[in-house]
Amino acid sequence: MKLALLLYPHQNIRYRASLLQIALEETRLVFDTLETPTDIHPEEIGGAQFLICQPDRPLSRRELGFLGHLSSVYMIFEVRDEALLPLPAQRPDYIGADLPYLLKYKGKTNEMFTDSMLTMALAASAFSRNYDAQLNVLDPLAGKGTTLLLALRRGYHGIGIEISKSSIEELTAYMNRYFEFHRMKYKYQKSSLTVYGKNGGTQHKWVFSDSADHFKDGDTRSLRMICGDTRNTEAFLKAESVHLLITDLPYGVQMGTAGKQDGILGTVSAALPGWYCVLKTGGTLCMSFNTHTVRREQLTGRLAECGFSIVETGSLAHWVEQAIERDLIIARKG
Ligand SMILES: C[S@@+](CC[C@H](N)C(=O)[O-])C[C@H]1O[C@@H](n2cnc3c(N)ncnc32)[C@H](O)[C@@H]1O
Repeated sequence: MKLALLLYPHQNIRYRASLLQIALEETRLVFDTLETPTDIHPEEIGGAQFLICQPDRPLSRRELGFLGHLSSVYMIFEVRDEALLPLPAQRPDYIGADLPYLLKYKGKTNEMFTDSMLTMALAASAFSRNYDAQLNVLDPLAGKGTTLLLALRRGYHGIGIEISKSSIEELTAYMNRYFEFHRMKYKYQKSSLTVYGKNGGTQHKWVFSDSADHFKDGDTRSLRMICGDTRNTEAFLKAESVHLLITDLPYGVQMGTAGKQDGILGTVSAALPGWYCVLKTGGTLCMSFNTHTVRREQLTGRLAECGFSIVETGSLAHWVEQAIERDLIIARKG
């Protein structure tokens, strides 16, 4: 079977080469889970960028369904006698595909890149065969929720931890407006959290569904956004409750939050044991970072000390903008 995966084009030429590298790694990781030896290579056809894959057996509908989660891929074709035959779209949209994209702000992590992180973490986890199950996705440095909204789009549950009250307020207004505008059934609840016997933050929780009937039957998904310090993750969430942990570390030199100027490495080091504890065995962490503020070896060292094993990938480091060179680490628990 020969497949041609058409990649999304990108206007920025400098970023295009990086995207191709990310698309290749994402596709390799997904094909690794299918357990069929596959050569994957880039090829330009008619001026458009494709990845050509030749698995040694036909893929099942379910396997093709997982390929539909490849974030860098716009369309999938089967190649027969040099002709490209489009395969039916298998987009995993549980709710509106626009949900992660409408809210624009400075410091937002690129949506397609974040979605690739989600797919790579899933492919490297023990849960790749359950890609359409109700997985729990945690972003412990959630900002205004890009990771979580992409998770909800797939029909997963989203859990975020974020220290900035104003970011959470903005997300709250957006979510409520989005549900109202689309006349979706939902419940919103705000509550206080107790951490180590003291008031330790606020939780905003939405429960919603893709249809009114499903909502009535209790077939729902949830988004929980915790306003608090990620160093308290273990106190906020149950042990072994998260399938995938996806996060984009702050790009500045200092985190400067929660009264501690301990830099990114200090905060990550303090938070990692908690992140490890709430992750299920077989779950994965996928973390991006600015190489100008923290070195890859520093992070992989801390991850290994906590018990994570680093997942081998090709180079994923890429230029983003002046002063930001982004890299990515995938690590697995168990
Ligand atoms: C790179 S941003 C994440 C952006 C996010 N992916 C988005 O697209 O909205 C990192 C976030 O970490 C948050 N942060 C920094 N220190 C924190 C801490 N100790 N606990 C929780 N959140 C923290 C910052 O407020 C910032 O919003």
